[in-house]
Amino acid sequence: MTTTDNTGTALTNAPVATRFPAGFLWGAATASYQVEGAVREDGRTPSIWDTFSHTPGKVLNGDTGDVAVDHYHRWRDDVRLMADLGLTAYRFSVAWPRVQPTGRGPAVQRGLDFYRGLVDELLAQGIKPVVTLYHWDLPQELENAGGWPERDTAYRFAEYAGLVGEALGDRVESWVTLNEPWCSAFLGYGSGVHAPGRTDPAAALRAAHHLNLGHGLASSVLRDVLPARAQVGISLNPSVVRALTEAPADLDARRRIDALANRVFTGPLLKGAYPRDLITDTAAITDWSFVRDGDTAAIHQPLDFIGLNYYTPAVVSAARPDREGPRLDGHGASQHTPWPGADDVDFHHAPGELTAMNWPVDPTGLTDLLLDHTAQAPGIPLYVTENGAAYEDVVDAEGRVHDPDRIRYLHAHLAAVHDAIEQGADVRGYFLWSLLDNFEWAYGYGKRFGAVYVDYETQERIPKSSATWYSRVARSGGLPA
Ligand code: NOJ
Repeated sequence: MTTTDNTGTALTNAPVATRFPAGFLWGAATASYQVEGAVREDGRTPSIWDTFSHTPGKVLNGDTGDVAVDHYHRWRDDVRLMADLGLTAYRFSVAWPRVQPTGRGPAVQRGLDFYRGLVDELLAQGIKPVVTLYHWDLPQELENAGGWPERDTAYRFAEYAGLVGEALGDRVESWVTLNEPWCSAFLGYGSGVHAPGRTDPAAALRAAHHLNLGHGLASSVLRDVLPARAQVGISLNPSVVRALTEAPADLDARRRIDALANRVFTGPLLKGAYPRDLITDTAAITDWSFVRDGDTAAIHQPLDFIGLNYYTPAVVSAARPDREGPRLDGHGASQHTPWPGADDVDFHHAPGELTAMNWPVDPTGLTDLLLDHTAQAPGIPLYVTENGAAYEDVVDAEGRVHDPDRIRYLHAHLAAVHDAIEQGADVRGYFLWSLLDNFEWAYGYGKRFGAVYVDYETQERIPKSSATWYSRVARSGGLPA
């Protein structure tokens, strides 16, 4: 039998062709600065993203997160929306400057109350909350004191993690310390396309280490304050790096980017040491003396899960003499590189059609990523904590949003997750990025990743046809043929 969804898209009630394991989480994700708005309410102070987005020229069209999608006021409706879609999990982040406005000292109760209310409503609807402690909104005061390149920020983060853990630990089981520390370090302090917009390669490497240390220290504090059943992990955005050719110079470019994108985190997290080749490759930039005795042991904590965010692979080569135009590394145009010591590496488009971000669609990268982490971290469960795509969504004359490209993207990537599970990856859940259209960092509101469309004038939410499709997948526990 064939029915149509609210956009008139034909949807078959065909039996599920690809079934996921029982208990697999069907989630969606957001992040505080991208959705909340209400930046001056209830004691919240500016984060680095408030400062950055209010600096002319930093974000497309001068967009800011001042209002975003007003989730701070509409959260009840948004939870109802998730329940209507049949989601079983929701990953959101806590805004540090709401909870600890100066990045130090006691927690602000009103800030914690917001998240407590949200969590209670999720639980009442049978939706598992997954809390990310840091999704890029560092209190501006901590940046004024030096930000992530300074060691003290790692200690401050651990303290803040403890405050949130104490407040929500009785009701939240799953905890993500950091979201995509690569972006915080290398886009925030290297290329400068993200807040705080600094362009200092040595600072980017210091930031990476202090993010790692912050994760390790926060994990220890969380283990102390949370009940034993709590699950503590991290969400990484590893680059699935492919060499353009098998030529030794291109394979070496691959190795270098793999070190700077991936092993700078997985080295200390999974093996308790920074990779030697990374230290050698960056020797002209830093001597790594900011890594103190005991740091890598502090970072090398047990992980209950690893969260992986995946959008597109990277294809690299040694510098080609004919390189023209901006780097194709998918991280925004900047004269400065986010790859300290590897600015002679060229990036190329992987084959595949492009999303509105100009990111090639290649679901095989997700299977590779999951299998690679299965091999690197045997026995540690994996979650896809983000996956999704931006497209040029429009509301049609009937007030509906039809996004077949996104349905195809999601279908192909979920099939890729299933392939990885069949090949032995222990993947426990999938979080679509994003529940709602929202503030896409340096691109402002220009790029829509939501399964639910947001009219930014009225704040009306319109589930796209992909939301209806994903809802069927979540309810049936598998993919249609
Ligand atoms: C990763 C980030 O975690 C998220 O904040 C962002 O919006 C998506 N990727 C899409 O770029």
